[in-house]
Amino acid sequence: MEQFRICGEKKLSGEYELTGAKNAVLPILAATIVTGHESKIKSCPNLSDVQNMFTILKEIGCKITKEEDSVIVNTEPINSYTIPERLMREMRSSVFLMGPMIARCGKVTLSYPGGCEIGLRPIDIHLSALRKLGVTIKESHGFLECTADKLVGCKIHLDFPSVGATENVMMAATAAEGETRIINPAKEPEIVDLQRYLNACGAEIEGAGTEEILIRGTKSYHQAEHTVIPDRIEGGTILAAAAITGGDIVLRNAIPEHMSMTLSKLREAGCIIREGKDFVELIAPEKLNAVEMLKTQPYPGFPTDMQSQFLTLMTIAKGTSIITETIFESRFKHVEELMKMGAKIKVDGRTAVVKGVNRLTGARVVSKDLRGGASLVLAGLAAEGETIVENICHIDRGYDKFELALCKIGAEIKREATQDRT
Ligand code: UD1
Repeated sequence: MEQFRICGEKKLSGEYELTGAKNAVLPILAATIVTGHESKIKSCPNLSDVQNMFTILKEIGCKITKEEDSVIVNTEPINSYTIPERLMREMRSSVFLMGPMIARCGKVTLSYPGGCEIGLRPIDIHLSALRKLGVTIKESHGFLECTADKLVGCKIHLDFPSVGATENVMMAATAAEGETRIINPAKEPEIVDLQRYLNACGAEIEGAGTEEILIRGTKSYHQAEHTVIPDRIEGGTILAAAAITGGDIVLRNAIPEHMSMTLSKLREAGCIIREGKDFVELIAPEKLNAVEMLKTQPYPGFPTDMQSQFLTLMTIAKGTSIITETIFESRFKHVEELMKMGAKIKVDGRTAVVKGVNRLTGARVVSKDLRGGASLVLAGLAAEGETIVENICHIDRGYDKFELALCKIGAEIKREATQDRT
């Protein structure tokens, strides 16, 4: 087990280059299965979730070659239709291997992904949409056995714009006869990136990012190269780190449009934000203002993946903020830890009321999920004295060597082994 030791009250400033988006590269790596060819994926971030996806792909027979920040995936030699249970458990998002495996092989067996740290995360929307396309799914003893002799395009109305379900259906429908229309799909930039990748390989998909996605069944694919979009959540986290430490930062390789709700809330909190075609600059105010109301929503609303970081900013803002989490039911686990650092927060169901205090004080805290863990690091960067964030394996799922990246812009933070205190 490892932990971060942070010496707080250092202003973050300078330039920060964003890496490829975790939530874009994971479905794209899964989508390489659909093509049965070689794909070069550029700007592939070095994250533990990405390593897990490589392990799964290798386990089912794919060849993976890494080259600096690119990866070449050859999915032609797939020879297994079972995703090992231990790997499914490592990474919940492996659920979107269903769509591509069905499209390519007509069958797949995987274990039921179950809940995770931030909520129950059922997959009923994935299953009912895939069944509509013609997939037979047998659920027993925690396993899902999916088979399809033939997929037939149809109209699929999603009850909720689930990101993973939209991606699963897009990938499965590439192998369906005729046209599939997804109504009420997720509109996240990562969905648009998946469309761009699949179309680069020969698929015919249009409408990603809008109210309706149209997929025409594809017969032939070819090799392709694709550059993953920059990580808007990594970007938001770094801007929040600069804001909470009273610093100023320039994000490079950014797409400001993907971050517009986060930028709007940072402006409301008193930050000066300048945007260019591929950069964002943030200058923090002397004292942050409370943002009265913040509610997480599907894109283009405020991202649930930025809720923990923003809530942390509000702990030292002037005034009281009300933050409502509408996407996941257990996404306030960092609150208890922030309170050990002097934050004043009351949680009632899906709403947190945050009363700004003058400053946070360093403490030993435990990371319980990816973004909640990152938000404890932000708290430690601002706090007086020393903060230890334990259980940082969660943070490594979504940030590549977070401590080194932060040190480059002025933080004092190091990684070390956690001593057994029993
Ligand atoms: C993706 C992101 C995650 C982000 C989330 C919401 C990846 C790898 N992960 O997760 O970082 O926080 O989108 O923006 O891209 N739901 C159901 N039934 C389903 C599917 C979802 O009830 O079949 C519920 C979930 O439990 C959750 C909500 O819908 O409460 C949103 O889930 P979804 O949009 O599917 O998120 P993920 O794809 O899991």
